[in-house]
Amino acid sequence: MKEQVSELKKIYESYKVQNISLNMERGWPCKEQLELSMPMLDLVTSHTNLCLENDYRGYAGTAGIAPLKKLFAEVLQVSEEQIYIGGTMSTTIMYDLINKAVVFGFDGFMPWKDFKGGVKFLCPSPGYEKHFNICKTFGIEMIQIPMNDFGPDMDFVEELVKEDDSIKGIWCVPLYSNPTGIIYSDETIQRLASMETKAEDFRIIWDNAYCVHHLTVEKCQIRNIIDECMEHGYPDRVFEFTSTSKITFPGGGVGVCASSVDNIKWLTQKSLLQLKSGDKINQLRHSMFFPSVEALNAHMKKHMDIIKPKFDLVDRILHEQLDEWNIATWINPKGGYFINIKLLNGMAHNVWEKCKEVGVSITPAGSTFPYGEDKEDAYLRIAPTYPSLEDLDKAMHVLCVAIKLSYLEKHNLINIMEENHG
Ligand SMILES: Cc1ncc(COP(=O)(O)O)c(C=O)c1O
Repeated sequence: MKEQVSELKKIYESYKVQNISLNMERGWPCKEQLELSMPMLDLVTSHTNLCLENDYRGYAGTAGIAPLKKLFAEVLQVSEEQIYIGGTMSTTIMYDLINKAVVFGFDGFMPWKDFKGGVKFLCPSPGYEKHFNICKTFGIEMIQIPMNDFGPDMDFVEELVKEDDSIKGIWCVPLYSNPTGIIYSDETIQRLASMETKAEDFRIIWDNAYCVHHLTVEKCQIRNIIDECMEHGYPDRVFEFTSTSKITFPGGGVGVCASSVDNIKWLTQKSLLQLKSGDKINQLRHSMFFPSVEALNAHMKKHMDIIKPKFDLVDRILHEQLDEWNIATWINPKGGYFINIKLLNGMAHNVWEKCKEVGVSITPAGSTFPYGEDKEDAYLRIAPTYPSLEDLDKAMHVLCVAIKLSYLEKHNLINIMEENHG
């Protein structure tokens, strides 16, 4: 054991002098992925017919051009009137939706800012930190909800929403959840759609960011929550989101919202002043690049071919390095952008710091929890897509050494052994 400890320390010290600078922090597409969409930029030229609908060169058309609405209606299995395309990324629409709920209230409801004592949101955790930061920005109190292998703990959710009309919503990433990679079960989705809520303006923010981002040929599917809510008598309960940020270009893509026809009418009308017209030329570029769902899926298969080996590499190194230690669990997800490592309690911050000290960036410990508070201090999120395979290999080995050292330190093994043998 002593040799093992000093060997680990030696390796860790050797990393310190190597001037490493590796990043597994953000779920960004890598350069090869971005290259895939370059041909899209050649599709709209001065020769392209833009005099379509109300003339794509002009002001008219707030909620998106028809061919792109048709594409996303098919992807999300709704009608075209249930689609709103606004801005270039989904976070803009999600942020704006919460802003509108706070300032104006949903159609026919009191603005959340006027609710005595303030309003609350359910935050399945670990989750996507931007969701939590939106709540923080608008002073919405966050209630942490434990996640299990099938989605949020629904017993907990149902009990809370039944009793408390200040609970106005829940954030959900239902397919290849960020960061755990889990997929919401049929039962979870049906319970979310049918549960009784004391707040009539309770809303599910269904962030289906990874709806076409599969990492297996099987293409996992989830139930259509918009239909489920409709069937259970709550047609306006859910706003679903997705975007092309990780399909084409982050920031240069299109943000999409799907909901009931009434909600989309309300959102469109409420957005008229701020977004008289989206970037219809960029939307046209996208609809020409993806003339059908088949074309979109073929493009996503190319993404999968680039990033799947990275996920497999992370999974393999974790198994090779940590299996016999029994101190970490994770799943190799069937889609999405992240791998979530659950360590023994009390290790995450220390491991994150150890990685940082030698130049490996991972998502800060705690940041996948509301207020940055992971009470168990156990969760670390890895984003494998951006680095090259070679860099990822190195970064993962650093991470595994950091995990082992942190474990030994935490259990005081290093100090005790040094005392005994010193
Ligand atoms: C769950 C989830 N939603 C939304 C986003 C960002 O989407 P967009 O670029 O469309 O704002 C991300 C990016 O990591 C994400 O993981």
